[in-house]
Amino acid sequence: MLQRFWTVVVLVPLALATGQLPRQTNDGVHLAITPTCGTIGGTVANTNAGVSTSGMKTLVAFGDSYTSGGRSDGGPLPAAVLNGISPRAGGRVTDGPVWAEDIASDLGLTIMDYAVSGAVVNVTLWPSEAGHSDFVHQAALFFSQNNVLNPNTTLYTVFFGINDFSASSTDGDHLPEAAADLLALIKQLTSAPTNAKNIVVLDDYGRGTDAATGDAWKQAVFTGLGALHSTGINVAYVDFAPLLTAVMGTKPGFAAFGYDTVGPCIPNLSQTNLTGECGTPLNTFYWLPGHPSKETHRLMADYAELVLENCH
Ligand SMILES: *[C@@H]1O[C@H](CO)[C@@H](O)[C@H](O)[C@H]1NC(C)=O
Ligand SMILES: *[C@@H]1O[C@H](CO)[C@@H](O)[C@H](O)[C@H]1NC(C)=O
Ligand SMILES: *[C@@H]1O[C@H](CO)[C@@H](O)[C@H](O)[C@H]1NC(C)=O
Ligand SMILES: *[C@@H]1O[C@H](CO)[C@@H](O)[C@H](O)[C@H]1NC(C)=O
Repeated sequence: MLQRFWTVVVLVPLALATGQLPRQTNDGVHLAITPTCGTIGGTVANTNAGVSTSGMKTLVAFGDSYTSGGRSDGGPLPAAVLNGISPRAGGRVTDGPVWAEDIASDLGLTIMDYAVSGAVVNVTLWPSEAGHSDFVHQAALFFSQNNVLNPNTTLYTVFFGINDFSASSTDGDHLPEAAADLLALIKQLTSAPTNAKNIVVLDDYGRGTDAATGDAWKQAVFTGLGALHSTGINVAYVDFAPLLTAVMGTKPGFAAFGYDTVGPCIPNLSQTNLTGECGTPLNTFYWLPGHPSKETHRLMADYAELVLENCH
C-alpha cells in the first residue's frame, strides 16, 4: 500500500517538474531522472504505442533472473522475504520483490511469472548457455497451459538480452538471430489462440555498458515492435540503459538516487548465506553481483510506469 501510494505521488507531474521527488518510502531510494521518450518506428527509445495500464487484470511475465519471482510456471509466487540465511528472497536473485511484482501490485494485477534465472531468447543460439532456460521454452510452457486470458485485460512483458549479450562474447554475435526469434515468439503470442494485444518489451542488455552489437539488438527489436504495432497491437518499449548510465556515471550518480553504494551488497553470486553483507543493505543498487536490490527493482518499476504513462 505504501509502495502504491509512493508511485502515485511520483506520477504527479508537478512533483517531477519541481524535482521534489518524495523519499518517504523505498528506504530513501528514488528516481532522480525522468525517462526520455522516443517514437515507435524511429530510433530505439522509451515508447508507449497504445498500451493502457488501466483496466488490466493480469500480467504475464517472461524473462531471466531480473524478472523471476522464484517460481516459473505462472502460479502464485513465494513470499518475497529473506529467511535470515539465504540471500535470495523466496528463491529470487534479490532480497525482495522483482520489478514485475511491483508493477503488478501497483496496478492491481495478478502476476503469472514464467521467468527463469539465466534465461536467453533461444538457447540453441548459444552453445555456452546449454541447459539454461529460454523464451522458447517459457512461451511453450505458457501455451501448453491453455490459459484463458482476456487479451483486453492482459499485459505481456518480455525482458531478455542480458544473458544473450554476455553469451555473445563467447559464442559470437548471434544477437540478430536472437532479436528475430524474440519477435517471432511475440508474434506467436499475438496470434490465435492467445491473441495478445498488449506487449511491453524491456531491455538492460549491457547493465550499464554498451556495444554496437547490443545497440543493434535493441534497434532490431524496437523496429520489429513498430511493424507489429502497425498491425494493431499495442506495444511499449522500456530502455533501462539511461537509468544505468545515470546511476553508474556522474550525471547525476548513485548518491542522487539515495544509494550509498552501487554494490553488490552480497559479494558472491553463488553464496548461500549473508556472509560479507554490506553495511547499508537497503541502499545498494546491486544486491548480488549484477542483480538489482529490491529497492532498485522498485525504481525499475517506477521507471517503467513513467514510460507507460508519459511516452505516448
Ligand atoms: C476486447 O475489446 C474489443 C474492443 O472493445 C471488443 O470488441 C472485444 O469483444 C473484447 N474482447 C473480450 C474478450 O472482451
Ligand atoms: C532457435 O534457434 C535455432 C538455431 O538458429 C533455430 O533453428 C530455431 O528455429 C530457433 N527457434 C525458435 C523458436 O526461434
Ligand atoms: C564464489 O563462491 C564460489 C563457491 O563458494 C567460489 O568457487 C568462487 O571462487 C567465489 N567467487 C568469488 C569471486 O569469490
Ligand atoms: C556461509 O557459507 C560459506 C560457504 O559458502 C561457509 O563457508 C560459511 O561457513 C557460511 N557462513 C555462515 C555464517 O554460515
